[in-house]
Amino acid sequence: MKGTAVVTGGGSGIGLAVTRRLRADGYRVATIDLRPTETDLAYTADVADRGAVDSAMAAIRAESGPITVLVNAAGLEGYKRFVNLDFTTWQRVIEVNLHGVFHTVQAVLPDMLEAGFGRIVNISSSSAHSGQPFMAHYVSAKSAVNGLTKALALELGPSGITVNAVPPGFVDTPMLRRSETEARLGGTVEDHIQRTPVRRVGKPEDIAAACSFLISPEAGYITGQILGVNGGRNT
Ligand SMILES: NC(=O)c1ccc[n+]([C@@H]2O[C@H](COP(=O)([O-])OP(=O)(O)OC[C@H]3O[C@@H](n4cnc5c(N)ncnc54)[C@H](O)[C@@H]3O)[C@@H](O)[C@H]2O)c1
Repeated sequence: MKGTAVVTGGGSGIGLAVTRRLRADGYRVATIDLRPTETDLAYTADVADRGAVDSAMAAIRAESGPITVLVNAAGLEGYKRFVNLDFTTWQRVIEVNLHGVFHTVQAVLPDMLEAGFGRIVNISSSSAHSGQPFMAHYVSAKSAVNGLTKALALELGPSGITVNAVPPGFVDTPMLRRSETEARLGGTVEDHIQRTPVRRVGKPEDIAAACSFLISPEAGYITGQILGVNGGRNT
């Protein structure tokens, strides 16, 4: 067993694929999600709720030992014309996508500092680079996650902890299909495939493979990077 990893948003889509991949890689993987998931070692918490995050991490630590790998995949999308975007909705999207990362990283850091080793991967979004209409709150939060990733990489590097981000472009998950159903994609998934250089939609496993590499021992010299996994869509 390589150690204990926590994957937020591990109940669906990208987080679920990361969970399966890291288990196959030999990690003990606990998930934190809003709802109970299919896997064992599944903990229920809202990542925006610091008390709930601390409780879940304490329970994971008690059951599985120190946490040295963290993948933040929990995310909440939202579509609203900015002129109609109420502050409560803005805040909730920022709280889940950005403050959630603040809470989980702070909650696991003592374990990583004690171990002198840690791997953190934040799943941000290619929209942080391209912008996205009607998603000002989401794009703002994901851009901040990229910035937080870079700042933490500099601060935590001397302690043996790497921090990287993977911004997905167009990955076939329940979130993407919800957006397609709500006609938020500016076309169907099939339309977008024709605009993607590698001519296919991304799979959750594509993101999981990048996470698997970034947390591996041989990626120890890679930190503060935003590694696009997007079929060439946002190069
Ligand atoms: N699918 C894409 O094309 C795409 C593109 C860009 C970014 N992303 C990002 O990738 C990540 C994973 O997205 P996905 O497509 O797998 O979405 P998804 O909706 O399939 O899965 C997200 C998971 O996060 C959980 N979650 C949501 N809010 C939470 C909260 N407050 N606390 C705990 N768990 C919470 C959900 O319950 C769900 O299980 C998200 O951060 C998303 O913003 C996805």
